[in-house]
Amino acid sequence: FKWLWRATYLSVILGVGAVIYDGYSDRNPDDQFVPDPEKKTLVILGTGWGSVSLLKKLDTANYNVVVISPRNYFLFTPLLPSCTTGNIEHRSIMEPVRQILRHKKAAVKFYEAEATKIDYERKVIRISDNSDIKGTISETEVPYDMLVIGVGAENATFGIPGVRENSCFLKEIRDAQAIRTKIMDCVETAAFKDQDSSEIDRLLHMVVVGGGPTGVEFAGELRDFFDEDIKKLIPEISPRFKVTLIEALPTVLPMFSKQLIDYTESTFKEEHIEIKTKTMVKKVTDKTVEAQVTNPDGSKSIITIPYGLLVWATGNAVRPLIKDLMSQIPAQRESRRGLAVNEYLVVQGARDIWAVGDCAVAGYAPTAQVAAQEGGFLARLFNNMAKTEEMESRIKELSSNLNLKPGNTAEITAEIESLEKQLRRVKDIKPFNYSHQGSLAYIGSEKAVADIAWLNGNVASGGKLTYLFWRSAYLSMCFSTRNRVLVALDWIKAKLYGRDVSRE
Ligand code: FAD
Ligand code: NAI
Repeated sequence: FKWLWRATYLSVILGVGAVIYDGYSDRNPDDQFVPDPEKKTLVILGTGWGSVSLLKKLDTANYNVVVISPRNYFLFTPLLPSCTTGNIEHRSIMEPVRQILRHKKAAVKFYEAEATKIDYERKVIRISDNSDIKGTISETEVPYDMLVIGVGAENATFGIPGVRENSCFLKEIRDAQAIRTKIMDCVETAAFKDQDSSEIDRLLHMVVVGGGPTGVEFAGELRDFFDEDIKKLIPEISPRFKVTLIEALPTVLPMFSKQLIDYTESTFKEEHIEIKTKTMVKKVTDKTVEAQVTNPDGSKSIITIPYGLLVWATGNAVRPLIKDLMSQIPAQRESRRGLAVNEYLVVQGARDIWAVGDCAVAGYAPTAQVAAQEGGFLARLFNNMAKTEEMESRIKELSSNLNLKPGNTAEITAEIESLEKQLRRVKDIKPFNYSHQGSLAYIGSEKAVADIAWLNGNVASGGKLTYLFWRSAYLSMCFSTRNRVLVALDWIKAKLYGRDVSRE
């Protein structure tokens, strides 16, 4: 026991030391230098999973790097559903892009702007400052030699009437904030003096459309919020609270194994979350959802569901910027779900343009895991391309020396041979190959489901232990030590004092 205590004590001291050191080095990075202006200009669009993974591993000394995004931070999306109820505060999962760029060896330019047009023939991007405060110039052009597009996707609505006007999405920080405010608005309005009984039922009916992981995780977080906090604070209305998850397909979480789908469905039953499968929403009004149900005998019927809060989580659609670029490139005409890329993530039919993440169609699901691996792959590719150019010009230089100084040939020939050997290794870059690590989702009541890739097979697990695994996996995946500390403190705070129910 004495040794066990000592080991624990030592690891705590080392852990605290590592956190303090990380914090110090975060605040005091090494000085940066400005890259040679003769080098190629590499423009990166977006500050999401794909672009930031590229930036993390890219040697910025090799290029003049310019980052353009309307969002001056990276968002750790896997924990976004927890921000809707205040289990995690939104700033805990944001990492300022200036902080990320300040740690690069060579300086990187950042413009907070939206790319509105990519002119691939002229190799320029039109950008626009879409923030509230504008200077005398709010639109301009940025030229590029190389371009990486990582602008993600927008919310799919399939043109269903009333969706944009009446529902909340769950993609950005402002969406999570809007949901948090609206939940409390519905609760306080339902608790209003002499409120109409049917109106209380409507206001406390939270409807989630889309049974993918976003919809499922949000429904789980919502139920937890009510059971753990609202019930204690406003007990008189709590029995009327209801969550319904609507899904067009026969099951929720179609990307998970059958066993975990069944587990999720039975857990939701215990949590009193109603799942309506084979139900496709066709129309939304300010207070109701109209959906078409496919009955067991194959017949169809229409149902109308009143709601207080409606969260729309039906997946991704292509952004207008990408649609416009696709319409300019003949080789992209057949592509529907985004920019078709080859195995090196080069946009098909275009020169010097690469695409990563949700805006690219490379044959993988639109997930953070895929986007991060694609970004990492491009960083290796670009670092190697720069090394190749450097070596080739050195070989050229040495070869001309060989002609000019014939007396010194042995040494120069040896260096050329060694460089050629290295060059062959550097040039031999394999195509992008996605390695799936598994899927994880929180399903409420401190339970999670996980399909983890393990020794060429798959391990499916669900429950409280998986929830601990989910927490530790996401904590370790947070962008920085600062994020990790903030998220851990938020979890402790919510457990000890409950979620903050004040409506901002
Ligand atoms: P994003 O991360 O969406 O980044 C796009 C970037 O481009 C943003 O910075 C945006 O501001 C910027 N941008 C947009 N338009 C423009 C423009 N016109 N010009 C310049 N920049 C622009 N995946 C998982 O693998 N595991 C999970 O647990 C998980 N959880 C999720 C939870 C939620 C709630 C959501 C919504 C998604 C989740 N995902 C998860 C999916 C994952 O977040 C996406 O697949 C991932 O973000 C895609 O990365 P990306 O770089 O392509 O796009
Ligand atoms: P999704 O595309 O995975 O699921 C959307 C669901 O909405 C589909 O099942 C679809 O059938 C349903 N739907 C579409 N239209 C409908 C309608 N009119 N009525 C009823 N249902 C309708 O979308 P989601 O969940 O937003 O995820 C997007 C991407 O992000 C996916 O690739 C997902 O894997 C990833 N993601 C991963 C997470 C994780 O691993 N924990 C968490 C969140 C997202």
